[in-house]
Amino acid sequence: MILELRNIYKNYQQGKMEVPVLKDISLQVEEGEYVAIMGPSGSGKTTLMNIIGCLDKPSSGIYKLAGENILDYKDKQMSEVRLNSIGFVFQSFNLMQRQSAVENVALPLLYAGVPKKERRRIATAALERVGLGERIDFKPTQMSGGQNQRVAIARAIVNNPKIILADEPTGALDSKSGEQVMELFHKLNEEGATIVMITHERDIAEHAGRILHIKDGELYDEDEKGNKIIHREEVDA
Ligand SMILES: Nc1ncnc2c1ncn2[C@@H]1O[C@H](COP(=O)(O)OP(=O)(O)OP(=O)(O)O)[C@@H](O)[C@H]1O
Ligand SMILES: [Mg+2]
Repeated sequence: MILELRNIYKNYQQGKMEVPVLKDISLQVEEGEYVAIMGPSGSGKTTLMNIIGCLDKPSSGIYKLAGENILDYKDKQMSEVRLNSIGFVFQSFNLMQRQSAVENVALPLLYAGVPKKERRRIATAALERVGLGERIDFKPTQMSGGQNQRVAIARAIVNNPKIILADEPTGALDSKSGEQVMELFHKLNEEGATIVMITHERDIAEHAGRILHIKDGELYDEDEKGNKIIHREEVDA
């Protein structure tokens, strides 16, 4: 089990009120799985993603990543987990505009202390994996949205993370570029990557091996008839 969330709650303080945003969420993802989480705006998708991505902690619950109890970690350990174990892909790419593709992709390696020459070699290989071997010295402004997202995906995989987390990875793309990004996710998944992807588009979610839904902070499956199956943890594994 690569990812295990048990009875996760997240509340935000709004003045004197505690507003619940995630309500008793339990989720298990096996290594090599490709899971999509669908839900409308405000349903808690990004909040959940931030918890899975170790950018935020829940108000209560258990979170294990590759068997490690992440919530026991201090901030510094959390950032190490982010750097070494998680590859992030965002809707808006989040690339450094003044840096070339290869420099952008090499950034996580820089933070990880990899020497310069090695960085360029590894980053170039990651760009080749996403089909951008010919564009390594291009800057974000010199590339299309779809190409920029592929640079961001190369950056996400450059450290061989345990899991790729994507928050609306096709949200800023036209449908053709979106399809290319989905093809790339398929390829990475076939090569063994575990992917958790957030989207509100059914067409995009259908690329995943399993689709979950989140609504008003509750995570659920649908059965064949479209009825909710709420995920609650019954057994203590
Ligand atoms: N820092 C915060 N403080 C208070 N409330 C917050 C905070 N962050 C998020 N919320 C609330 O939590 C709820 C879920 O927000 P979240 O960003 O997770 O939604 P989302 O599903 O990602 O939406 P979208 O599809 O629009 O990105 C919203 O009602 C939002 O107002
Ligand atoms: Mg969001």
